[in-house]
Amino acid sequence: MFGRRSTEGAQPPRRVAPQAQPAAAASAAAAAAPAQTRAAEAAPAPAAARPAPEPVEQQRRHSEEYYDVKTTVFNALIDTIDLTQLAKLDAAAAREEIRDIVSEIIQVKNVVMSIAEQEELLEDICNDVLGYGPLEPLLARDDIADIMVNGASTTFIEVSGKVQKTSVRFADNQQLMNICQRIVSQVGRRVDESSPICDARLPDGSRVNVIAPPLAIDGPALTIRKFKKDRLRLDNLVKFGSITPAGKTVLEIIGRVRCNVLISGGTGSGKTTLLNCMTGCVDHDERIITCEDSAELQLQQPHVVRLETRPPNLEGEGEITMRDLVKNCLRMRPERIIVGEVRGPEAFDLLQAMNTGHDGSMGTLHANSPREAISRLESMIMMGGYALPVKTIREMICGSIDVIVQASRLRDGSRKITHITEVLGMEDETVTLQNILVYEVTGEDANGKLVGRHRSTGIARPRFWDRAEYYKEEARLADALASAEVLDSHGNPLGETHG
Ligand SMILES: Nc1ncnc2c1ncn2[C@@H]1O[C@H](COP(=O)(O)OP(=O)(O)OP(=O)(O)O)[C@@H](O)[C@H]1O
Ligand SMILES: [Mg+2]
Repeated sequence: MFGRRSTEGAQPPRRVAPQAQPAAAASAAAAAAPAQTRAAEAAPAPAAARPAPEPVEQQRRHSEEYYDVKTTVFNALIDTIDLTQLAKLDAAAAREEIRDIVSEIIQVKNVVMSIAEQEELLEDICNDVLGYGPLEPLLARDDIADIMVNGASTTFIEVSGKVQKTSVRFADNQQLMNICQRIVSQVGRRVDESSPICDARLPDGSRVNVIAPPLAIDGPALTIRKFKKDRLRLDNLVKFGSITPAGKTVLEIIGRVRCNVLISGGTGSGKTTLLNCMTGCVDHDERIITCEDSAELQLQQPHVVRLETRPPNLEGEGEITMRDLVKNCLRMRPERIIVGEVRGPEAFDLLQAMNTGHDGSMGTLHANSPREAISRLESMIMMGGYALPVKTIREMICGSIDVIVQASRLRDGSRKITHITEVLGMEDETVTLQNILVYEVTGEDANGKLVGRHRSTGIARPRFWDRAEYYKEEARLADALASAEVLDSHGNPLGETHG
């Protein structure tokens, strides 16, 4: 058979690993580890032939014996198979070849297993050799937002805004480390004791972070933000109740009329998704340049240049920071600059760009409210080493940012756009903000789901009204703001001016 070591021909496995005794399991798995790395180097690119999605909650929690048998069979397989030959097969053929050999090993070794268990073992081993091992069933699912592996025996996922524990486990930390290595090596990076932090991307675009021992004390921690195949649009956000139809129109107009926008929110609150949605409103004749740490945005316009930062190499050289990218952008004749996440001194360059004719630029930032977003921006600039008085920095912020959109993940797991807020100007040394649309929680239903509503604050003419007029969007804006208004019991608008 093609995938076997040539000396073996159709013979039964050349050497079968000794029956794993409980105490020997760890060392057997450790022995399998380098072999798995070899498999990673030689095997065809994973992900092509993933198994059908299988809800993880229904997966059986395997016994220790299952993992012992798996280690034994795996070792025997690695001894039998010719990885160089296997690498020449396409994913489906390689999978078929491995299944044949594993079935044979199971027979030769007289392993007693039910048909269903055998099938699972075959699938598991194929995933170990060809793909991302125990992660494969999770990667195949579309309903998962995040996969969080905290060492070999604990894996959590986020589904519908809720974090839940799964029964997925790895043979040991070495196997997990090998899989991490396999993932990051695909984008030309390395993760080990000497460089234990690494960002990468899966072939499908999912964002990956690995932090390995000794920094991660209980084994490698792997975090994957799953890439959504069907990109979310503002219409989807309306359907999920994250924003009202009127709020959606206001966001569309803000995007279209080239307001400079900051999207603020906590971790996983939906900032990048919202940024992606808002870029959907950009006209198709504009030249857009995106700068990201790990390319996540999926712009649909024809004229887009995507840039990505680069970490330093092992010698600590060659790093390209977000600041380098934003500065370089300015020499690329951008019409809009989109920064995936503003985290440091690039804030200054982005504000300058917004101030100097690149209207309609956007970025996201970690903050829990629009007010906090302003102070975060301020401290990023101060920490960047600019010896500017606070007032000057605030004036710069006011002169650059038009709108802050706040995204939040509420305690029931739902994601909402909680504020659309304008930056009005300065009053003495304070930046004044004006909410246009807010979300307020009004209660909780019997199932623990929060009940709330989006409402306009009664601002009929936001500061970007002139822009809306210029783009002939003023009538649509007036309608959207009026229909978002919520009246009190006397029929008067519930007014609010300051955020
Ligand atoms: N309004 C929404 N309703 C439901 N799911 C959403 C919504 N917005 C985002 N999501 C989902 O939530 C997850 C996190 O979204 P996203 O990556 O946009 O968050 P983020 O704030 O950028 O996170 P991070 O801080 O890690 O960069 C994704 O799986 C995304 O599909
Ligand atoms: Mg993000």
